[in-house]
Amino acid sequence: METRSQWGTRAGFILAAVGSAIGLGNIWRFPAVAYENGGGAFFIPYLFALLTAGIPILIMEFTMGHKYHGSSPLTFRRINKKSEWVGWWGVAVAFVISTYYSVIIAWAISYSIFSVNLNWGSDTEGFFNNSYLQLGADPGQVGSFVPSVLIPLIIVWIVVLGILFRGVKRGIEIANRIFIPALVVIFLIIVIRAITLPGALVGLEHFFQPDFSKIFSGDVWVAAYGQIFFSMSIAFAIMITYSSYLPKKSDITNNAFITGFGNSSFELLAGIGVFAVLGFMSVQAGVSVDEVVADGVGLAFVVFPAIINEFPALNGLFGFLFFASLVLAGLTSLMSICETYIAGLADKFKISRTKAVLFGGGLAGVVSLIFATEGGLYFLDAADYFINQFGVAMLGLVEVVLIAWVFRKLGEFKTHANDISDIRIGSWWTISLSVITPLVLGYMMYDLFKLNFAENYEGYPDAFILWGGWSVAIGALAVGILMSLTKWNDNRKKQDDVIKEAK
Ligand code: ALA
Repeated sequence: METRSQWGTRAGFILAAVGSAIGLGNIWRFPAVAYENGGGAFFIPYLFALLTAGIPILIMEFTMGHKYHGSSPLTFRRINKKSEWVGWWGVAVAFVISTYYSVIIAWAISYSIFSVNLNWGSDTEGFFNNSYLQLGADPGQVGSFVPSVLIPLIIVWIVVLGILFRGVKRGIEIANRIFIPALVVIFLIIVIRAITLPGALVGLEHFFQPDFSKIFSGDVWVAAYGQIFFSMSIAFAIMITYSSYLPKKSDITNNAFITGFGNSSFELLAGIGVFAVLGFMSVQAGVSVDEVVADGVGLAFVVFPAIINEFPALNGLFGFLFFASLVLAGLTSLMSICETYIAGLADKFKISRTKAVLFGGGLAGVVSLIFATEGGLYFLDAADYFINQFGVAMLGLVEVVLIAWVFRKLGEFKTHANDISDIRIGSWWTISLSVITPLVLGYMMYDLFKLNFAENYEGYPDAFILWGGWSVAIGALAVGILMSLTKWNDNRKKQDDVIKEAK
């Protein structure tokens, strides 16, 4: 009989799922994305994406993992042998994400130490780009390793792989039980301090002030869907893998709502905290909030240190708590991202967990080194953009079309989820997945291809876009297809029989 790992408790699973969802995307990305895309008005496409794609796909992925009891490749194989590549594609996308996600956590570790003495000085941008990252001159140049990034990066991998070695219940579940409550407490302290700063209201007004003209722009919808997918950890193998460790008697729908709304609440809290602080800065500097806001990397590692310098008191402590919250949120997500390939490898090749962690995690660790070089930031930026748009979002589209239209599984999944869950899903779920999400995502992908063929992302040179961007996104798909062509370990057939009996 198959002996698959299991979560110890329902709360353990929910904490792990919430821990996966709440990550750098919430703190590092959401506030700036929301601001750039219409502020208060962004909540319309955001909520639409959450309710018609985010939560419905989360319920679908939880159902798939629970029903087929396998990693993402095994789950897709059990749905239909010909769709195994989709499972591996998600795993390959997660692999790419893990290689640069770990690097941002490494920066946050360094910055939590820098906070204590405000080592970044007054020119925080110069410090980040030149002193800390030692950023090379041109995109595409690798340069030598940057020890200040390399050392915390090694620490990140030791911690994450160390937890993963211990397994699902003794490793991931225990880590989330400690990290997530700690993160919530630290973050509440940060937000309370932020909203009591002078000028906080100015920032919040800016954040919530709706710019309705923006919601008619396709870009804003692309941003909302992209944010929801990345932030909820959907469409890149994670939630299928995590729910494959659920015991037979588990609630699906309610757990998905708790995870989805928990994640969005945290996202909103992060937005409030960040904009309160930006308001403080704008009042201090006598400029408008528009002039102090920046995108993901710039916001956390350039603007925040500058603001922390201006704090009336205890700036070192505030800085430390902020960067520590990034580290905690990042680590719990990174575990889930790596677990996708650990589970995939263990299922397919029937190797022990230890070997899967060593091989999968070790390879990711080695690949991540490219981002710890002088040219690292450019590679990171391109990989992040391309893998999110042409990896995660594209995979989301392929996944829903396959499940809803090719294999026509929605009815079966609905019955499966309703039989074991408190909240029953009905036509909202079916229509969202079979009509709304494919239409919106389909249009979005068309628009994205058009945009990217017309102009290079960030004006990067052609060769760099090709090698640093397209090849990463296409490479993930190619690896997915290749992995699905490798042979399953012989014991697999026996396992499949067990599953058939169980159904
Ligand atoms: N869901 C994770 C995040 O938001 C990956 O960062």
